[in-house]
Amino acid sequence: MQARFSVDSGDFTKAGSASSAIKRMLKQLGVKPAVVKRVVVALFEAEVNVIAHSYGGFIQCDISPEKVNLLVQDTGPGIPDLDLAMTEGWSTATDAVREMGYGAGMGLPNMKKNADSLQISTAAGKHTEIRMSFSLKEGEDGVS
Ligand SMILES: Nc1ncnc2c1ncn2[C@@H]1O[C@H](COP(=O)(O)OP(=O)(O)OP(=O)(O)O)[C@@H](O)[C@H]1O
Ligand SMILES: [Mg+2]
Repeated sequence: MQARFSVDSGDFTKAGSASSAIKRMLKQLGVKPAVVKRVVVALFEAEVNVIAHSYGGFIQCDISPEKVNLLVQDTGPGIPDLDLAMTEGWSTATDAVREMGYGAGMGLPNMKKNADSLQISTAAGKHTEIRMSFSLKEGEDGVS
């Protein structure tokens, strides 16, 4: 099963709408609540980052019996120093973004904590592409 959602830059009124839709899909498919929670936490962070920090993009979700694969891609401006961006508490969020309750610099670290695998491809002046996967197989749900 595959689904795709576009994510517009700056539109905080829609923050979480793709994550919520994917949450409903996973619940309907009978995915364990603990796994659904990790997917949604990680995806929400990626979704808000596209809204807050990028020119806009899309989220693609592929669900198989074995795993959930998420692709979050935007059209720029890219992340100049990914190691720095992965540091807890590091943020370039504007005052406007902080006033909405974001900008703690915890999104990327939270994705890393919650996803079974996280791959980020980015460069300054280019797009950012985040791939996360979550195992649905018994005993491989990353909890133990
Ligand atoms: N899609 C993106 N495009 C460009 N820059 C990004 C993107 N995602 C993250 N960044 C950069 O990485 C920094 C850290 O991201 P992270 O999600 O960890 O924190 P944050 O978004 O600033 O705050 P929080 O997620 O806690 O609300 C951001 O402040 C921004 O500079
Ligand atoms: Mg963030």
